[in-house]
Amino acid sequence: MSEESLIKVENLCKHFPIKGGLFNKQIGEVKAVDRVSFEIKRGETLGLVGESGCGKTTLGRTALRLLEPTSGKIFYGGKDITNLDYEEMKKMRRKMQIIFQDPYASLNPRMTVGTILSEPLNIHNLYTGVTNRKKRLRELLDYVKLPTDALNKYPHEFSGGQRQRVCIARALAVNPEFIVCDEPVSALDVSIQAQVINLLMDLQKELGLTYLFIAHDLKVVEFISDRVAVMYLGNIIETACASELYGESKHPYTEALFSAIPVPDPTHIKKRIILKGDVPSPLNPPSGCYFHPRCPNMKEMCKQRFPDKSARTSTHHYSCFNPIQ
Ligand SMILES: Nc1ncnc2c1ncn2[C@@H]1O[C@H](COP(=O)(O)OP(=O)(O)OP(=O)(O)O)[C@@H](O)[C@H]1O
Ligand SMILES: [Mg+2]
Repeated sequence: MSEESLIKVENLCKHFPIKGGLFNKQIGEVKAVDRVSFEIKRGETLGLVGESGCGKTTLGRTALRLLEPTSGKIFYGGKDITNLDYEEMKKMRRKMQIIFQDPYASLNPRMTVGTILSEPLNIHNLYTGVTNRKKRLRELLDYVKLPTDALNKYPHEFSGGQRQRVCIARALAVNPEFIVCDEPVSALDVSIQAQVINLLMDLQKELGLTYLFIAHDLKVVEFISDRVAVMYLGNIIETACASELYGESKHPYTEALFSAIPVPDPTHIKKRIILKGDVPSPLNPPSGCYFHPRCPNMKEMCKQRFPDKSARTSTHHYSCFNPIQ
């Protein structure tokens, strides 16, 4: 394992049992995350994209052990954290935080911002004492560029963008190193999105943060990420630097996904690739390569085996038998 990698997952699986019938027996399982491996270096941002339901949130949560992995391994700073017990994991949690998509749902409406920001500090017994605590709360508001009087206000008194700033401040409270940003700007107006993205990027520089950045919007992902991982039905099917992925994607799914981005130059006409069919159910995934029923490059062997990972460069990996030339 390379020394700088802060978080690394190996063959991570998260399968949800599906129960039903008279005796509520297990009748199947959703393979929400299936044999996923990736690593993120310290200070790096890995973008994670893919259609709705492909397992992005589940992967982010499982990597933090907010969901228990079904199998596979998670390393943090070189340490295997897959089987740490509650107390040991609590210490690790300080270093790993998450920001959710919906800043409305993730803040308790009955708590003031001051109480919301104090909660993680109380849990981890940090910045105790009145003066010390007050200073920390002001510092957190400064980080996210909210005025000090925000401390006595309730979430409903803020706009969506400001509320997301409160969520960011809460995540920063315990001095984390790694933050999973799960679609942090999807619920915001386009004009506000840019401010929040810029804030996250400034904070990354200032505090040396490492991000796993989940998003639907490919333009946002390109802007913020050093590398991008593309997910399809529980698997990461291609990973590359943002610039490599936009011109030289190898996987037909990535190409189709990225062909949907409008280009500002009217002389450059890009052919939009429309995929046939819907995303198959993770309850009953297709044989071989999960993408084969929708793939324009499908060959016979794609139905039989899942393709191994190939490397085009040291940063560009893909899983496909018949890649784009
Ligand atoms: N607790 C659960 N129990 C059963 N199935 C679940 C559970 N959580 C997620 N799933 C299923 O796992 C799959 C992946 O869901 P997930 O929320 O991770 O996708 P996503 O890529 O984040 O989607 P979106 O872009 O809509 O947020 C879906 O099929 C979902 O229905
Ligand atoms: Mg999600």
